[in-house]
Amino acid sequence: MTDFSRSYGSWAVIAGGSDGVGAAFAHGLAARGMNLVLVARRAAVLDECAAAVTSEYPVQVRTVTLDLAGDTAIADLERATADLEIGMLVYNAGADTRSAEFLERTLDDHRSLVHRNCISVLEAAYRFGGPMVARGRGAVVLITSGAAWAGGRTLSSYGATKAFDLVLGEGLWAEWRDTGVHVLSLVLGATDTPSLHRTMDPGDRALADPHDVAEQALDHLADGPTWIYGSENPTGGSPFGSLDRRSAVLAMSAPRH
Ligand SMILES: NC(=O)c1ccc[n+]([C@@H]2O[C@H](COP(=O)([O-])OP(=O)(O)OC[C@H]3O[C@@H](n4cnc5c(N)ncnc54)[C@H](OP(=O)(O)O)[C@@H]3O)[C@@H](O)[C@H]2O)c1
Repeated sequence: MTDFSRSYGSWAVIAGGSDGVGAAFAHGLAARGMNLVLVARRAAVLDECAAAVTSEYPVQVRTVTLDLAGDTAIADLERATADLEIGMLVYNAGADTRSAEFLERTLDDHRSLVHRNCISVLEAAYRFGGPMVARGRGAVVLITSGAAWAGGRTLSSYGATKAFDLVLGEGLWAEWRDTGVHVLSLVLGATDTPSLHRTMDPGDRALADPHDVAEQALDHLADGPTWIYGSENPTGGSPFGSLDRRSAVLAMSAPRH
């Protein structure tokens, strides 16, 4: 048994665990001896990630193909893992799939984003976090974004969902800090993932390496409530500091070069 499985339990669920940051968490957790439940929509990508992990580490991997924006997604996931003790939840899926203004998107598009990024996150924290608190050990990592710091043009509903995740994680940290369950809201900036490249051309913008992101988060699970990857002050506040809200929103909305 490794330190990680002793501290948290031997199985981790990664919601959005087939590529990018989620796959990096899968490798990082498997390297620490954790068995994995990987969740995503595309079965082929999921299977590829599971095969890559099991070829490298002596751990078990279960794949669950489902859409986290679906009404019954988390109840289905709970059923699919009912025979396992889930000691860690990494809720990773959450990227915006296109950069567009509020009214350029359909209402269904917004609803689906909110469901995957808010309702399912809350439900997963409730359904998997409750048993962790009862056992007195576990960890919950909610992946959020710098888009949570302030509203911004083309970021309205996405940023709002990420602010929800940031604050939800912080609240859970405050409630569970004496129970043995670690909670971390992990704030990411631009990160080199397939999803980012599908959404935008990063040009010469510096991108974080997903493996560095996952390693840093796994090394700092106990340093919640918030960890800001790439910040000089990773447990600190918003990079907008004491800017008034209007200036922060305008800064968030400025075109990036
Ligand atoms: N990349 C960045 O620059 C960046 C910046 C700031 C914050 N973040 C945050 O980091 C997290 C990871 O981002 P990412 O860029 O790696 O892309 P992502 O699309 O959020 O994550 C990719 C993973 O999630 C799965 N996924 C996405 N939507 C899903 C759904 N509806 N149901 C089930 N699985 C789903 C994908 O597999 P399938 O597509 O097969 O379902 C894949 O395994 C997100 O929470 C994002 O908000 C990313």
